[in-house]
Amino acid sequence: MYDDAAADRLVTAAADGEDRAVEAALRPRDLDEFIGQERVREQLSLVLQAARRRGASPDHVLLSGPPGLGKTTLSMIIAAEMGAPIRITSGPAIQHAGDLAAILSSLTEGEILFLDEIHRLSRPAEEMLYMAMEDFRVDVIVGKGPGATAIPLELPPFTLVGATTRAGLLPPPLRDRFGFTGHMEFYAPEELERVIHRSARLLAVEIDPKGAAEIARRSRGTPRIANRLLRRVRDYAQVRHDGLVTPEIADAALAVYEVDPRGLDRLDRAVLHALLKLFGGGPVGLSTLAVAVGEEAETVEEVAEPFLVREGLLARTPRGRIATAAAWAHLGLTPPPQAGGLAVPQQAELFTPPEA
Ligand SMILES: Nc1ncnc2c1ncn2[C@@H]1O[C@H](COP(=O)(O)OP(=O)(O)OP(=O)(O)O)[C@@H](O)[C@H]1O
Ligand SMILES: [Mg+2]
Repeated sequence: MYDDAAADRLVTAAADGEDRAVEAALRPRDLDEFIGQERVREQLSLVLQAARRRGASPDHVLLSGPPGLGKTTLSMIIAAEMGAPIRITSGPAIQHAGDLAAILSSLTEGEILFLDEIHRLSRPAEEMLYMAMEDFRVDVIVGKGPGATAIPLELPPFTLVGATTRAGLLPPPLRDRFGFTGHMEFYAPEELERVIHRSARLLAVEIDPKGAAEIARRSRGTPRIANRLLRRVRDYAQVRHDGLVTPEIADAALAVYEVDPRGLDRLDRAVLHALLKLFGGGPVGLSTLAVAVGEEAETVEEVAEPFLVREGLLARTPRGRIATAAAWAHLGLTPPPQAGGLAVPQQAELFTPPEA
């Protein structure tokens, strides 16, 4: 499955074991330390300040956006800013509504409940959550079968912070119960440079500004990837040089890991290369393209294509995948005269009789 191909990529936005181990140390602790996401930060700051003034729990908060942009980090910041304890769980960890009831009924007043991957909550748990969010109440079912009874239980005021990479999958009744939704966006290179400088300081890595810029450019708008690339470049700088990260060293280190100047890795480049060299830029069907690079169609579609599309290197059309002019330029190739695949021959051209 595509998860295997995705898992060992240096540029995946998903967390790997090492990320989990170091991320706790790299997480900003308060809103001032949190870099970028100006809009979400300002909105959230108002929500939290207002709640503090009222001496009440803030409204429930939903954080949505792609992996590695800082949702978990922000949830912890919310707790820190409110001076409240935080309980952390996730949609997949809650197997039964009873698991959720147990968590909810043990919350203390003002506690933050962080529910990661909230789109993966089961239906019964989700329905229990509706009542808990709105009325601060759950029905605990005692006993089984016809003798079972529902015992209503009052909950202390708490704040649910839900995180999801797939806001579109949340049922509207659940979405509507959040007082505030923060939409996280990809980071600008300058913001990632600041993330890298901050992490370098925490990891005691010496880095010059251009070295940070070089890593930032290849980090796909994602702080988690920026931090991971920084660690790999640090290794290289320490083993092969004196430890200082310069742009030349960042470039050489990332060449070893096959991360190119735009953040494309081996798989991304293989897909583009096949599309350009074998199919003249397309259009070509997904399954044909996948066979050409020796991968599953899902891997190409879900692992490689999203970033290529986001970068404007590849387009999905009803007739198949096509490369853009930027793709030809990026691989340093010259498009054939009629490349692009979007030009539909005119009827007249199709039926022009050969010259006598
Ligand atoms: N705004 C930021 N400033 C500095 N570092 C950040 C910022 N956002 C994220 N990071 C760093 O990126 C790492 C990943 O962030 P986080 O775990 O919060 O992402 P996430 O959105 O929860 O990802 P996932 O969807 O995989 O759960 C964190 O360790 C943190 O150090
Ligand atoms: Mg997270």
